[in-house]
Amino acid sequence: FVESLTRCLYFSQVCLLTGTICFGMTYFFFIEMPDYVSIATHFLMNEEDKCKDKNPFLILLICTKASEKEQRDSIRKTWGNESLVAGYLVVRLFMLGNHDPIYTPGIQNESKEYHDIIQQNFLDTYNNLTLKVTMGMEWVTTYCPHANFVMKTDTDMFVNTEYLIQKLLVTISPTRLFFTGCVMRNHKPIRNKQSKWYMPVEVYPQDRYPDFCSGTGYVFSASIAEKILNASLSIKYLHLEDVYVGLCLHRNKIPVASPPGFSLFNTYRVSFTPCRYNNLITSHQVPPKLLITFWEQMQKDKKICLEKHMK
Ligand SMILES: *[C@@H]1O[C@H](CO)[C@@H](O)[C@H](O)[C@H]1NC(C)=O
Ligand SMILES: *[C@@H]1O[C@H](CO)[C@@H](O)[C@H](O)[C@H]1NC(C)=O
Ligand SMILES: *[C@@H]1O[C@H](CO)[C@@H](O)[C@H](O)[C@H]1NC(C)=O
Ligand SMILES: *[C@@H]1O[C@H](CO)[C@@H](O)[C@H](O)[C@H]1NC(C)=O
Repeated sequence: FVESLTRCLYFSQVCLLTGTICFGMTYFFFIEMPDYVSIATHFLMNEEDKCKDKNPFLILLICTKASEKEQRDSIRKTWGNESLVAGYLVVRLFMLGNHDPIYTPGIQNESKEYHDIIQQNFLDTYNNLTLKVTMGMEWVTTYCPHANFVMKTDTDMFVNTEYLIQKLLVTISPTRLFFTGCVMRNHKPIRNKQSKWYMPVEVYPQDRYPDFCSGTGYVFSASIAEKILNASLSIKYLHLEDVYVGLCLHRNKIPVASPPGFSLFNTYRVSFTPCRYNNLITSHQVPPKLLITFWEQMQKDKKICLEKHMK
């Protein structure tokens, strides 16, 4: 109770500073405003039973917007396929905020067919991405605490799930607190208002961020989700979700590990060759049609590429 109040207060501070009107925030006002009690950390769409009686090896948490049906479909057919890697249970979840009601019937349809959408009642905007990611941490903590690993990524990404599982995650002890991705060390907040990553001094006065991983794709031991969630109750809200997660890790003294290999996690689109894509984990800005093309070519040459890589 007290913790929730803290989060509420912290959030209102940010809103005061940025001049945003905050009433209507979902889980931040449920103490003062009885109407919001029922929607406090309430999922509008949920998949409570995804992990019932099973412990997935990997949960894929994918930030999406309602309009991105084509992206979701291409991910379902490619790297997000839950039965891609034999012997490893994978759970795929797309994360949504509250969107234009014209999309609702389509989203409900998709949800009924694939059971892979979760949603909470915050406005789905860029500045609310941190709420989306916190929702994911809450879902893992509440409905799937015994999973081994979690990956947070986006719909414009190529992810080599097979490489991630078979080359990286199998080597990590499940008892370790492991967090990796494209690591950003010693980064300074960007104070240029034109930048997508602009950070007002009033919101974050320090001149360095703690280590964090680019939000395009980071992977971590599932037990970290609860630690991030708990830390978020007392860390001031920042709209840059990856920086925010970095602050939560820092609070818990969880180190951000460099990935064990050169250029495994990439924040730009790596130029395509089947062998290059067979031997990396993420590539950015891959639109849905291209994703399918890359995927098909990669599968065709998989065996040759992996053998070549071994030599
Ligand atoms: C998912 O992968 C499995 C195993 O490779 C395959 O049999 C299945 O057709 C794929 N599903 C989709 C939707 O592509
Ligand atoms: C919902 O799915 C059905 C059957 O797949 C389809 O005919 C219908 O057009 C879909 N509705 C929307 C709003 O996408
Ligand atoms: C975040 O979501 C809340 C709740 O829907 C909304 O009031 C607020 O305006 C959103 N913030 C931004 C920056 O979009
Ligand atoms: C998170 O907070 C809850 C409630 O205070 C506590 O029971 C739990 O042990 C905490 N979890 C971790 C991982 O610190």
